Amino acid sequence: MGQQDAAAIRAELSAGLLAPHAFTAPKYLYDVLGSKLFEAICELPEYYPTRTEASIFDVHLSDIAESVGRGATLIDLGAGNCAKAARLFLALQPAQYVPIDISVDFMHEAVARLQQQFPQIEMTAIGMDFSSALDLPDVVHRKKRLFFYPGSSIGNFTPHEALDFLKRLRKACQLNGDADGGILIGIDLVKDKALLDAAYDDALGVTASFNLNLLQHLNRVLNADFDVRNWRHRGFFNVESSRIEMHLEARSDVTVRWEGGERRFERGERIHTENSYKYTPEKFVDLLEQAGFGESRTWTDPRGWFMVCHALAI
Ligand code: AVI
Repeated sequence: MGQQDAAAIRAELSAGLLAPHAFTAPKYLYDVLGSKLFEAICELPEYYPTRTEASIFDVHLSDIAESVGRGATLIDLGAGNCAKAARLFLALQPAQYVPIDISVDFMHEAVARLQQQFPQIEMTAIGMDFSSALDLPDVVHRKKRLFFYPGSSIGNFTPHEALDFLKRLRKACQLNGDADGGILIGIDLVKDKALLDAAYDDALGVTASFNLNLLQHLNRVLNADFDVRNWRHRGFFNVESSRIEMHLEARSDVTVRWEGGERRFERGERIHTENSYKYTPEKFVDLLEQAGFGESRTWTDPRGWFMVCHALAI
């Protein structure tokens, strides 16, 4: 990370902490420990999205493969260890696999292993923060691009940001002036509040640790003096906004100082750290259509908790 990037990050964080309702962007939850804690969250009995999505791919893989077709340029957004996409290789038989993640180092080992296993698939890993812009290098084939965005990560954008993001993907699905390719995406669905509350406030306190770890990250990045023990995790479903909200709440009056700022938080005051929007199938398909995708096909689990959707650029 360059000097300017670090300064821009500090300015962004500082502005959020000084806002009337303090907030931080969800990406700051993912330092090294935060990423490990998120992996642990995915194993929790209460956190159903990961395993429910996996079960949908297991049950409907041949149907999904038929919808997608063979020989795609499979662009894996937020690929991590590439495991989710790798499970699709045999069925989808992509011509090229392009895992994209902020940290390219993390992907290298996984890609090297996959390349040995699937020598017929051309593989190119790209290190990029695709959330604000999507400038794909020329090595990425233009033909039959399939953007793979599993895990309901799109829920961490506001619906407005999600639409902008989908429009950028749609723009990248263009071949010689014609629409080509599409999107394969996982979406968490609106469901009973108690289930959602539990998924984001688990009995073991792993999600609480994930949220509180943000303060340690801020201490390092901003040279701040947050004391984790002064804060508690809040995670709940806001029915009206159709979103999970995660906050960190001051347990008592506390003053926090950091390089370039200081703020007093009163007992009960919160820092808003994440939203995770939940959609109905109709609302999400509508969003896809507004972005220029169509002919959507959707698959859900028997309880209707999660949805996988394939849509074509039109
Ligand atoms: C990464 N993202 C889809 C997760 C979610 O469910 O919104 C992040 C998460 N936050 C708390 N638990 C999981």
